[in-house]
Amino acid sequence: MRSHYCGEICEDHLKHEVTLCGWVHRRRDHGGVIFIDLRDRAGLVQVVFDPDTEAAFATADRARSEYVLQVRGRVRHRPSGTENPDLHSGRVEVLGQAVTVLNSAKTPPFQLDEHEHVGEETRLRHRYIDLRRPEMQQRLQLRAQVTSAMRRHLEAEGFLDIETPMLTRATPEGARDYLVPSRTHPGRFFALPQSPQLFKQLLMMAGFDRYYQIVRCFRDEDLRADRQPEFTQLDMEAAFVDEESIMGVTERMLRHLFGEVLGVELPEPFPRMRYAEAMARYGSDKPDLRIPLELIEVADLVADVDFKVFAAPARDPRGRVAALRVPDGAALTRKQIDDYTAFVGRYGAKGLAYIKVNDPAQGAAGLQSPIVKFLTDEAVQGILERTEAAAGDLIFFGADRTKVVNDALGALRVRLGHDLGRVAEEWRPLWVVDFPMFEYDDKDGRLYSLHHPFTAPRLGDSGDSGDVSDSSDTQGLAAAAASREAAEALLSRAYDCVLNGVELGGGSIRIHDPAVQQAVFGLLGIDEEAAEAKFGFLLDALQYGCPPHGGIAFGLDRLVMLMAGADSIREVMAFPKTQTATCLLTEAPAEVGEAQLQELGIRLRRVQ
Ligand code: AMO
Ligand code: AMP
Repeated sequence: MRSHYCGEICEDHLKHEVTLCGWVHRRRDHGGVIFIDLRDRAGLVQVVFDPDTEAAFATADRARSEYVLQVRGRVRHRPSGTENPDLHSGRVEVLGQAVTVLNSAKTPPFQLDEHEHVGEETRLRHRYIDLRRPEMQQRLQLRAQVTSAMRRHLEAEGFLDIETPMLTRATPEGARDYLVPSRTHPGRFFALPQSPQLFKQLLMMAGFDRYYQIVRCFRDEDLRADRQPEFTQLDMEAAFVDEESIMGVTERMLRHLFGEVLGVELPEPFPRMRYAEAMARYGSDKPDLRIPLELIEVADLVADVDFKVFAAPARDPRGRVAALRVPDGAALTRKQIDDYTAFVGRYGAKGLAYIKVNDPAQGAAGLQSPIVKFLTDEAVQGILERTEAAAGDLIFFGADRTKVVNDALGALRVRLGHDLGRVAEEWRPLWVVDFPMFEYDDKDGRLYSLHHPFTAPRLGDSGDSGDVSDSSDTQGLAAAAASREAAEALLSRAYDCVLNGVELGGGSIRIHDPAVQQAVFGLLGIDEEAAEAKFGFLLDALQYGCPPHGGIAFGLDRLVMLMAGADSIREVMAFPKTQTATCLLTEAPAEVGEAQLQELGIRLRRVQ
């Protein structure tokens, strides 16, 4: 039906006769001449109809926004002074000779270039229209380029694309499961995979050696800008590898993607940081290194002051007192500081002490602060020296349980970076390594895996023992079972890939020894019987010749969001769900009829 895409037309086609198909983006009537911007996935081209071509002119005259047209015409230069440098086709136009209305359209619920005024709900309800916007077209095309480059790179490195089931058993990744009732086994349910974790490990046991899959994952969890209930992972696993191999292959892949798709050169190699250092300096395990602000420990300086707010957490081994110096921050107003105090309150902080440094040479007299009067001169001097505060700076403080201080000041540092325009324009990837194996939950009084229960502990150097099953591993885990401190001190062989403050991917070397796997289940409070019931197939498989193996999964939506410069993963997904996990377009989830429920053996309870 057509000879070219609209957006392709340029001076190369001057004097050519072309046939184009597309949507009416805009129609203008200029003193007897009709201009139509015709749009398709490649972009826009201006088509001009003048009254000499009578039939075409009449048809063009009744075309409205979003009508679907086929146009035949000749490419010519635009009159000088009317070029549009923003368009690929901006130096030319098509003189329309014939036009067919392939379909009419009702007045759209919003004009494409007015999408910002209609709110996301309207956009999602009419997503097929929203997706016509050139910006959305470009984002989804970028996404396709990314997955294509990914596939080519991984296949060149010997990875096989293998599919894993969607109707399966729960794989724990820390979220709730989406369940699917079984008709053939009433009362039983499949779980949609939170990730293909166990299947990819089984594929390694089956000898496939290098696996990848671009795969949908399902997690029923609280949604945010970078979380959807159904999202896509680039999932990978390899056998006979260590951390270096996995980090190496994924770094090469990311460098290839950024180079090919964006023309951006990522650093080689990516820097690495231990988890403990990331938490100490940035209060976060996914630090945005584009922001120069850092947390500085000051607990030792304030442990003996009379100010309880500082002294108590300073003396508590689970507490932290940290400072965050903001160069030139003394210009912040009282109102701004109050706003930041409310902001850190969301992370559990009970306040946000600060010192404005007017003239550090004058000691306390050169400072403005609600707390200096509670501190000793020595403590104040120590803080000024350690933070290297200069005239015009402001120092914020967090004092509380370590988690609260890290969450609050970690988030504040990012917010200040954006508010004060201190985010450098660059790509800052980072590997975070040496994660703790477990996290203790005070509420439940038990340990949880920081990554997942299949992650290998970092215990001695098991590679040299010459033995299949390394007893030092199980001994180390036995010590962890004996004390909470020992368990919390255990490190794992997990690694996260972070880019500009976004957790892009995470993975680990896995446990391949059934005794170690049992011991880890035990520490997580999963006794032998429960482990057998839930993961019996894995424990069995581990006994039939499991190679050492490991892998990683990247959030594809997050990666494309960053590459596209979008604010939310919804902007790079064709049909995303809302914050409350509904699809406004199809109105899913929906009620089902009584007959269908009966067939599944399900009776609904009224939810209060
Ligand atoms: P993990 O749970 O860290 O690891 O997930 C890997 C990556 O997937 C992305 N991601 C999400 N993206 C959008 N919406 C969500 N709800 C969401 N949840 C996670 C993140 C994250 O880094 N099986 C392990 C991987 C492994 O060990 O190999 C896993 O799933 O970018
Ligand atoms: P207060 O003695 O509670 O009035 O607090 C004095 C100052 O310390 C105020 O500026 C509070 O914002 C701040 N502050 C109170 N609690 C904390 C805390 N846990 N961490 C940091 N600053 C705090």
